[in-house]
Amino acid sequence: MAVKARSELYRRALEVIPGGVDSPVRAMRAVGLDEPLFIRSGEGAYVETEDGRRLLDWVMSWGPLLFGHADSETVAAVRDAALRGTSFGAATEAEVELATEIVDALPSVEKVRLVSSGTEAAMSALRLARAFTKRDRILKTAGGYHGHADALLAGAGSGLATLGIPASPGVPNGAAADTIVVPYNDRDAAADAVMQHGEGLAAIIVEPIAANMGVVPPDPGYLETLRRLCDVSGALLIFDEVITGFRVGRGGAQELYGVLPDLTVLGKIVGGGLPLAAFGGRAEARPRPGCPCWRVCATAQSTTVSSVGLPRWRTLSRRSATCSGSARCSPSS
Ligand SMILES: Cc1ncc(COP(=O)(O)O)c(C=O)c1O
Repeated sequence: MAVKARSELYRRALEVIPGGVDSPVRAMRAVGLDEPLFIRSGEGAYVETEDGRRLLDWVMSWGPLLFGHADSETVAAVRDAALRGTSFGAATEAEVELATEIVDALPSVEKVRLVSSGTEAAMSALRLARAFTKRDRILKTAGGYHGHADALLAGAGSGLATLGIPASPGVPNGAAADTIVVPYNDRDAAADAVMQHGEGLAAIIVEPIAANMGVVPPDPGYLETLRRLCDVSGALLIFDEVITGFRVGRGGAQELYGVLPDLTVLGKIVGGGLPLAAFGGRAEARPRPGCPCWRVCATAQSTTVSSVGLPRWRTLSRRSATCSGSARCSPSS
């Protein structure tokens, strides 16, 4: 269904937006389209394009829209919240209630902070891990995506367990130099990296199910190995559950596999389709008001997004099947 002539809308988009899109994945060249789909509206499982086609939507905004487009409960929550004011730059009850729901759902999370995007949540979790451990290095897996913060846009160097090199123009060498990249599901590579760099290692960050390079489940014992490597080295284990959170079960991949991270990163689904994300974990690793470890966004956690996330989260909680109680591998420290 390649579009033959360049549409007027795409031509205008190219004039004012680099590549005509606000995210490379929207260009859709990888799936053989000559120009992006411009969506006019969505309803339930379908979207309508600006050129009048009605398409079954397999994307669902990359995951958050579990209830479909323009879901009536979500629309009512948005309207209700917007009528009371959209953003105060001050605390609201909705944040407290949403945080309570998240803490209740995720086995390892005792305290949580709401932010605006998965990128911001992952970046903040890393900063927190570095502040908590007083170390700089982080270990990530090749193919794992944690947003576009500089330190996380690193590629593997020439050998296994080498320090990272920038994976994008614009990322300074220094920002990637403390990032170690190892292959996903490779226990030996992770162990080698910890042997080599463990003393300076602040965190291992991993998508517990690698969902940005296909959907690759962890080999049996892999997440447990990462847990143990963190325990012996004193690094924090960070699960990026932006994709798996509430998708593979109410308690995310950590509940499914029974391996508890120190910090968890959540995104997309938390806001029920509006931009909201979160990071949280063990109470002693929490960011404190006045703590010099900065995580500031004046308008994040606005009443609208928290108020919309809340009913969505509660509905998901009601509907989601609870995991059968598997034995858990807890942090030893
Ligand atoms: C696993 C994972 N972490 C983090 C992010 C970044 O989230 P955001 O796009 O909200 O910044 C993504 C985005 O796709 C993701 O898939």
